[in-house]
Amino acid sequence: MWISKTTTQAICDFNPWIFHTRDGHQIITSETTGFLEQSDNLYTESTTCFHKSRVDTQRFSRFEEYVTCFPCSASNFICVPDQCILEKKLFTTYRPGMLLEIVMYFALLEAIKENSPLLAFMEQDMSLTGHLLEYIFQHFKHKLILHRNVESMKTAMKSGRYQMVLLTNNLSNFKDICNMLGGLDAQVYTFSSLINKSSERNIRHQFPNVSLTQINCDQVLCKEMLGKTLPKVKRWLLLRQVRSTLRDIDVPVYQNGHVISFEKNIKSTDELVAQNIPVARLKHQLFSKHALYIIIGGLTGLGWEILKAISKGGGGILVSISRRSPNDIQRDDINEVEKESGCRIKTIKADISVFSSISEGFAQIKSSFPDHAIKGIFHGAAVVDDALLPDMTEEKFDKVLRPKVMGTWNLHLLSKDLTLDYFVLHSSITSAFGNAGQTNYGAGNAFKDATAFFRRGIGLAGQTINWGALKLGLIDEKTEKHLKSQGFLTMKENEIIQCFLYSLFVDPEQIICGIMDWKTVIKVSPDMLHIASRIQPIIDDLHLHDLTNPKKNKTGFMQVMETEELQNLPSNERKIKVEKIVSHIAADTCAVDITMLKVDTRLASLGIDSMKGMAFINNVYKYVSCKIPILAVMEEESTIGSITTLILEQILKCNDGERVRKSKKRNKKSDKQRKADKLIEETRFQVVTETENKTDIAFKIRILNGKEPKRLQWQTNDGENIIDFSEITNIQMKGKSGTKVLQVDTKNERYVFKSSDMEEVVQLLKQLEENFIMPNSTNL
Ligand SMILES: NC(=O)c1ccc[n+]([C@@H]2O[C@H](COP(=O)([O-])OP(=O)(O)OC[C@H]3O[C@@H](n4cnc5c(N)ncnc54)[C@H](OP(=O)(O)O)[C@@H]3O)[C@@H](O)[C@H]2O)c1
Repeated sequence: MWISKTTTQAICDFNPWIFHTRDGHQIITSETTGFLEQSDNLYTESTTCFHKSRVDTQRFSRFEEYVTCFPCSASNFICVPDQCILEKKLFTTYRPGMLLEIVMYFALLEAIKENSPLLAFMEQDMSLTGHLLEYIFQHFKHKLILHRNVESMKTAMKSGRYQMVLLTNNLSNFKDICNMLGGLDAQVYTFSSLINKSSERNIRHQFPNVSLTQINCDQVLCKEMLGKTLPKVKRWLLLRQVRSTLRDIDVPVYQNGHVISFEKNIKSTDELVAQNIPVARLKHQLFSKHALYIIIGGLTGLGWEILKAISKGGGGILVSISRRSPNDIQRDDINEVEKESGCRIKTIKADISVFSSISEGFAQIKSSFPDHAIKGIFHGAAVVDDALLPDMTEEKFDKVLRPKVMGTWNLHLLSKDLTLDYFVLHSSITSAFGNAGQTNYGAGNAFKDATAFFRRGIGLAGQTINWGALKLGLIDEKTEKHLKSQGFLTMKENEIIQCFLYSLFVDPEQIICGIMDWKTVIKVSPDMLHIASRIQPIIDDLHLHDLTNPKKNKTGFMQVMETEELQNLPSNERKIKVEKIVSHIAADTCAVDITMLKVDTRLASLGIDSMKGMAFINNVYKYVSCKIPILAVMEEESTIGSITTLILEQILKCNDGERVRKSKKRNKKSDKQRKADKLIEETRFQVVTETENKTDIAFKIRILNGKEPKRLQWQTNDGENIIDFSEITNIQMKGKSGTKVLQVDTKNERYVFKSSDMEEVVQLLKQLEENFIMPNSTNL
């Protein structure tokens, strides 16, 4: 596991060994010293101590200091088996780690089958002198000659000793020694903690002459083995001769290692508090007053919030880098933050996408604050320039990628030799989930994500935060509204900072922070289902399985329109309605912002493919009961408008048996419809034939559907009148002398249908419009 370097190690201004938090990483200790404690009394004035439920009071004293070798989490109290406890006084000169070393050598002795002399190599920087190894082997009458460098091993090999112990974690040294064998067979012993699996495979493959025995450290340190080994060690330590020799053995003082001693005088009745000693820092210790933090884009949006958070968190020097200098308002805000928190804020004008510019910025920082180590870099520089793929130009791509890709890499190059606590890349959920119109932005953020992993891989600090929608910076009101409709809610400042601090504290390579209304996300974005595996835990937690089943998926914002309902609408309204439905379906299927769609938007420009095409026609069928051919959707020239026309045509053909939904419901006219039909049939309209300026009294008027041409028929005192629809040039509803009239123009005549009942006129208009679409008809 990679553990970030703590500010303590770097700056030495506070102690990371804190005891009052349950957060943080646990560390395993293999060897501990301390005093015994009674089981019913878990708090004590002594610290590192053993707790044992069945203390053998005959064998152990509460006042004696003990050493144990037994792996357990670092804590003020540990429980260890009684066979694993040895009195510290047995070691004439005890140093931390000594018991563990002895245990390991005992295990090594046990593993060596042949009694022939051993050639041993111990890496110089292992913080071990090797004297203990030599002495233990000597005591047990096993000849061992120890070498501390590879060259001297070479000379020794000439004398023909080929049973070896190699205590090195340096693979190239290991291989050099094996190479020296020149193909001769050899038995080599080492520990599993020194050579990892892939190195082991490598050695076995490259040196088939080497029989490699790896002593498994986990097995050596398991309860059973320790239960057997430690009594042997104790018996050995009790030997007078051993004790006097150990007194003279050179005990190393660790140069590189740390001896960890816990705070004394912990008093708590809370068992958990006393038991957990995490190594992580407290949240309020994330930043140091002696350190310097660089915030790229720190004058606006997220950068500004982060700058304030670091200042509140105790950061000493804060440097904001952006292409512009602060304006007067920003300067006032900066002064206020400085006054409130006591930090110092410097602003530098530089472009991170240009190496010379940003390196000049770094040079300025170093010369202005030579005594402050740079401990954190927070990269939030970004610009957006959205466009759907066919309209995405190289220029737009370059513009958006520059601060994200070049900027990130420049920052990496300039900081790779620094010991940073944080190298945080502000990325977006766009690179995790995708977002139509943002291929450039998504790619730029994906580079940031990859860089975080790359840096971690080479042992440097690196973290990417994929932010969801934030109520600041790049997001305007329109985008916020759209994102909300897609299930992505904006995070407010306090929520952002909470997530930011949490991310630093827990320190994962990548973290997604956002507020998602997952139900809506899954409902309205069928695309989300493609990444269902990534969000599976969320689906499980929220029991959203039903929503992920496409059969059951229902789009919440649209209502299924019965064909009859659409037919009953005036032609203009129907057209608008269908156009709206088509736009919604296209926006959802292709996961684009509906506001970007127009009647002439080509479906191809939305990135429709055959999968999406199928989803599109299925949704059309679902919402308007019309089946449109896939080819009509996939055609290069298909637009929202052309699909709308296709659907309208189908709706109008419904009476000729082309309507797709042949539900019983459809065959049976609704009560309302029947009532309306009856009303028209029985209505006595006053019919005025304007050309002749003659007023007749109508007693029946109806539209003859079914056979072409459709006809409008009515009866007057003069007899039956019929106009074929093909003769009609215009239909309008107008206000005339306080009443509403329906005016039907033919090439030669104008008929005006008047009724005192407004509803009847409207019904007549509806019936006419359903059967006849006038290109220029207008409704008052
Ligand atoms: N707002 C959101 O909802 C949201 C969501 C997800 C992720 N994010 C991420 O959060 C970060 C910050 O976004 P924001 O919303 O706070 O945007 P913002 O307010 O526009 O901040 C961007 C900052 O970057 C600076 N900048 C741009 N190009 C630069 C360059 N080449 N060199 C130096 N500075 C440069 C800008 O200042 P100048 O123009 O003066 O240079 C500006 O101060 C971005 O990485 C963005 O991708 C934001």
